[in-house]
Amino acid sequence: MDVIPVTSSYFSFMISSLLVVFATALIAAYYYIETSRAVRLIKKLPSPPHVPILGHSLITLKASPEDIIEKGLEYYEKYGTVIGVYLGTKAVVFLIDPQDIEIILSSSVHIDKSQDYQFFKPWLGDGLLITTGDKWRRHRKVIAPTFHMNILKTFVPLFYENSIDLVQRLRDQIGKEFDCHDYLSAVTVDILTETAMGVRKGGKKKTGFDYAMAVMKMSDILHRRHYDVSLRADILFRFSKFAKLQEKLLSIIHSLTNSVIKEKARDVEEKHAKNQQQKEPQNDKLMESSVMTKNTESAKNNTANYKLHYVRDDLDDIDENDIGDKKRLAFLEMMLELKKVGQMTDEEIWEEVNTIMFEGHDTTAAGSSFALCALGSHPDIQARVHEELDTIFGDSDRQCTFQDTLEMKYLERVILETLRLFPPVPLIARQLNEDVKIVTNNYVLPKSTTVLVVQFLTHRIDKYYPNATVFNPDNFLPEKMQQRHYYAYIPFSAGPRSCVGRKYAMLKLKVLLSTILRNYRITSNKSIDDFQLRGDIILKRHDGFKIKIEPRKSGLINQ
Ligand code: HEM
Repeated sequence: MDVIPVTSSYFSFMISSLLVVFATALIAAYYYIETSRAVRLIKKLPSPPHVPILGHSLITLKASPEDIIEKGLEYYEKYGTVIGVYLGTKAVVFLIDPQDIEIILSSSVHIDKSQDYQFFKPWLGDGLLITTGDKWRRHRKVIAPTFHMNILKTFVPLFYENSIDLVQRLRDQIGKEFDCHDYLSAVTVDILTETAMGVRKGGKKKTGFDYAMAVMKMSDILHRRHYDVSLRADILFRFSKFAKLQEKLLSIIHSLTNSVIKEKARDVEEKHAKNQQQKEPQNDKLMESSVMTKNTESAKNNTANYKLHYVRDDLDDIDENDIGDKKRLAFLEMMLELKKVGQMTDEEIWEEVNTIMFEGHDTTAAGSSFALCALGSHPDIQARVHEELDTIFGDSDRQCTFQDTLEMKYLERVILETLRLFPPVPLIARQLNEDVKIVTNNYVLPKSTTVLVVQFLTHRIDKYYPNATVFNPDNFLPEKMQQRHYYAYIPFSAGPRSCVGRKYAMLKLKVLLSTILRNYRITSNKSIDDFQLRGDIILKRHDGFKIKIEPRKSGLINQ
């Protein structure tokens, strides 16, 4: 066979051709990106330094969750409440001012979640947190009423029973420094399983801890994919060490949720069989009203405290426009009833159970852990909480009731203040469906931009919270709240896509924290300024939620 002589001039021809192709591609990319309408509009906003074509991608390259909070604070100081960046053709805008945030969150047009939520799909499917359009509207209409006050009130004994269980388990930690988040994660999973899911564990082994730990590691992986460009594309992620770990964690997570669905489905079947025997008429208009009719006391009178000071949302409408006496069904039972009448599929139920289990536990675990740490760092504020609880319960070791929670005014302010300084969901991401003009300088945010509403920073604006970094529950005195812009306090988001579990969360936090605090005094040797915050999907302490406890009275409450 003849060998074709390869000369040095052939090589140099090849190399120069490749260079020309590469340079042409670069110039084309430069013009395509830098002159695109989105990037031109983004460049009008305050913005950190960037490089051509890659834009601000390099900023996130070496970022870690521990740096993100620091970086956010630094940029807010430097650039203000609107910050624009671009990553190639992707435009991202950070919004911090309540007036600008209101435009996005109150709109029924900008309800689509950003692309970043897609990483949740193998875990949550297309559940309420992620889905959009007609499916979101249909599911929201069904799910929101399952968190109606009439149902939440029936959960109080279960909140209390699990809280007392925790108080007993904490006995082993008296006098030692320990991480309270591990305990609170486990108990919040158990509470959710027994309330919204309606599956009683009773004497059986509670499975919350394994599930909660798997969720924590799973959130780590998802968050890493948000900021580490090398893990964003599925094709690259699949070959990383995280893909195998994700598979293992999802099998732990889904084995709990699958068994919860199976158990409750069996329950509902048994109930139907019993009803059939008693020939009770079935209600076939479930979807229309999402209620079952029976006599119960109206929610109106007793729920004043839970309307509170947030922006009004569909949860308030459901509670207030409660005409007649209704008995509503809790979340999973309602889903399964809807399946019986062909209005919910097995897959949809699976997606929503996984969504509620995640959203419902990790957020309240973080919120309650931050509350205990903050109280440990503020003995004076804790003493006021103890005083309030002593006024309500005296020396009695009786159970906590719904009525008691309405009297926990100071504890409520402590919880609200905790969620201000340490919002468990530190930011919300939306995708713009059309151009939006915001209040700040009339800037125009282009269609398709990812808007990041950074409530962590909104909650620290001095204009709305004088001495914003000081833990001061009196920020939530009624007169203070009335003077403040509604969107200056959005731990549960606001508008049509606000948190459906907001009232559930507040009620559960009150029962859980009051039960712990009736029994223990908390101490911590760290001031809240020294908490090392970790900007994960759910805000955490990188240095651990370390506290010490000591019994308040000679004996703990025994139930
Ligand atoms: C302190 C506790 C909680 C906080 C701070 C919190 C916060 C939030 C926030 C900020 C959102 C909006 C997220 C976004 O748009 O990306 C949200 C949505 C949601 N939350 Fe919560 N949440 C809490 C507790 C709960 C609980 C207990 C449940 C259920 C039992 C729950 C269920 C949901 C669901 C299903 C959504 C999606 C709503 C929709 O898109 O229509 N959350 N939550």
